[in-house]
Amino acid sequence: MPDETLNQSAITKGLTTRFIGQNVLYYPVTTSTNDIARQQALAKCPEGTAVIAEKQTSGRGRLKREWVTPQGNIAVSVVLYPARKDLPFLTMLAALAVQCGIRKTTGLKCQLKWPNDVLINGKKVCGILLESRAAVNSVDYAIIGIGINVNIKLADYQEISAIATSLADETGKEVSRVVLLQNLFLEMEKLYLRLRNGESILAEWRDNLVTIGKQIHVRAGDDVFEGIAESVADDGSLMLRCTDGRLMKFTAGDVTLSKNPCSK
Ligand code: BTN
Repeated sequence: MPDETLNQSAITKGLTTRFIGQNVLYYPVTTSTNDIARQQALAKCPEGTAVIAEKQTSGRGRLKREWVTPQGNIAVSVVLYPARKDLPFLTMLAALAVQCGIRKTTGLKCQLKWPNDVLINGKKVCGILLESRAAVNSVDYAIIGIGINVNIKLADYQEISAIATSLADETGKEVSRVVLLQNLFLEMEKLYLRLRNGESILAEWRDNLVTIGKQIHVRAGDDVFEGIAESVADDGSLMLRCTDGRLMKFTAGDVTLSKNPCSK
């Protein structure tokens, strides 16, 4: 594995962003980078501050799941102070930035799975967790937490090897996390500035979703719904067409491909 430190000077050397990733807080071990980022946001850290950890002891994923970060992966949380109108688009921004950052760094093509997973050859390589404090018309802060499987070997993690992959497994070699983080920050900033300028990134995100047009099932709370993923709404919600004709809208949930006919 390249012996890389992910500290401030390693990351900012040659980093051409204006603000994303220019202030780095690096932890060999921490609880969750999202927690540290939230504390930083409450203390009004500069926008674009990135909290990076080599290992997380209480890393968390969507839907209150645990997220394990072994050595060699990326766990990063970026602090933003977006306009209220841009808040619904930050997970799309993160997924597109990861997709582009991975392609630039490794040449690998990723697919996006609703709502915010990044896949390679159908297996999960990255998860995104957006946390924010917002009111109807204002946002105090948004934290974009990103976990990427970079240099782990999934053969060492039998419990998830059928559904997850890593960049090292896909390329057959180790990948520089510094270069990947720099590319990620650059892409995040480009997309964020586009949002701030009033541009939509919805179509770009939608066009990269593997979910659309597929027969799927959606787990939302204790319920499972099956049908065809028809489209996404303007706010990114998933529109599911059940075989009985109902059109259902999901703002959150877990999607898996399904071969069964539509039923509640
Ligand atoms: C998911 O797919 O469920 C989302 C996973 C998000 C994991 C990242 S790792 C960095 C940040 N810190 C956390 O505790 N979680 C996010």
